Amino acid sequence: MAYIPFNRPSLAGREFEYMREAIANGHFSGDGPFTHRCNALLEEALGIPSAVLTTSCTHALEMSALLLDIQPGDEVIIPSFTFVTTANAFVLRGAQPVFVDIRPDTLNVDEARLERLITPLTRAIVVMHYAGVGCEMDKICEIAQRHDVAIVEDNAHGLFGKYKGRHLGTFGALATLSFHETKNFTCGEGGALLINDTRYVDRAEIIREKGTDRSRFFRGQVDKYTWVDYGSSYLPSDILAAFLCAQLEARAQIQSQRQRIWEYYYDNLEDWAAENGVDLPTVPEYCEQPYHLFHLLLPSLEERQAFIAYLKSNDVASVFHYLPLHLSRMGRRFGGKAGDCPVTEDVSDRLARLPFHNSITEEDQELVVNLVTQFRCGR
Ligand SMILES: Cc1ncc(COP(=O)(O)O)c(C=O)c1O
Repeated sequence: MAYIPFNRPSLAGREFEYMREAIANGHFSGDGPFTHRCNALLEEALGIPSAVLTTSCTHALEMSALLLDIQPGDEVIIPSFTFVTTANAFVLRGAQPVFVDIRPDTLNVDEARLERLITPLTRAIVVMHYAGVGCEMDKICEIAQRHDVAIVEDNAHGLFGKYKGRHLGTFGALATLSFHETKNFTCGEGGALLINDTRYVDRAEIIREKGTDRSRFFRGQVDKYTWVDYGSSYLPSDILAAFLCAQLEARAQIQSQRQRIWEYYYDNLEDWAAENGVDLPTVPEYCEQPYHLFHLLLPSLEERQAFIAYLKSNDVASVFHYLPLHLSRMGRRFGGKAGDCPVTEDVSDRLARLPFHNSITEEDQELVVNLVTQFRCGR
């Protein structure tokens, strides 16, 4: 039997055509025609004032920390169950990360635990929409507003997902996207910063252009450009933007493929999960998910490890996900200790993700499902 990988990046169709066009345009660096086309597509599809491509989601998070002017000693509330760079971007500016636990159902920030973590030093709440299923944004926005704290949405998983009819990435002052090869839409490595609070638009342009007013110079608004602020090099090449553009333009096709894949797993694993004490993903009815990943929560760490090893021995890659940030070496340096985020600690031990990518075939999914349903928990 051929090996079934966890992820395999796929082409949507027009990538080479667009990359050839980008090369013919003679604009290889950032902010060329394809970058503008991607920015405009995101702005229009999401109905937001500004979207700018970046070299990664990590860099868009770093830009967010710079834009919020995070200073040493500021506190930033961050879920412990997320990727390292959600925290690192703020820690790089000297922030103290304050880790918040997650809800056991959606694995998103537990909004009921947020308020008690807010202090006079709190500058931002960072939320991450796990699997593209929306956090409880009504409550989170209300808390943030009452305490005058900014929201940043790490929406690496959730492009085109919605919470109560509104797109994820449109709630925070700032939000970030990832176009890494494991995401629904990719250019290998890439990201975007979504700017909902227009006060940040001008400065974002400068920070993204190495701290210079070069974009204004190119628009003829100044006669020379110079160093005016903090910044770094956050622009992807227009050749990569061309690749991404082909993927974003094929979003209807990509999302319907992923919906089919997700539903196939859900429908065919429901009975087995109920019989074996395994939890399938929870998607509240007011959340429209973008079908980013499919995870299972096994009854225990031992069973999760046995499950992954069993699939591996049958040539199927299944992987765990985030380790609790508060218990990492860095997290402990910031005071994290066992028991701080009990749900995160528990879920992190029990979670396994099944192979999921745009081009996985129904035959491969059938093989995965047949193997999974032969696995018995609680033996
Ligand atoms: C929640 C989350 N945030 C940020 C990132 C970083 O994304 P990038 O690789 O585009 O920097 C990831 C990566 O997988 C992620 O899962």
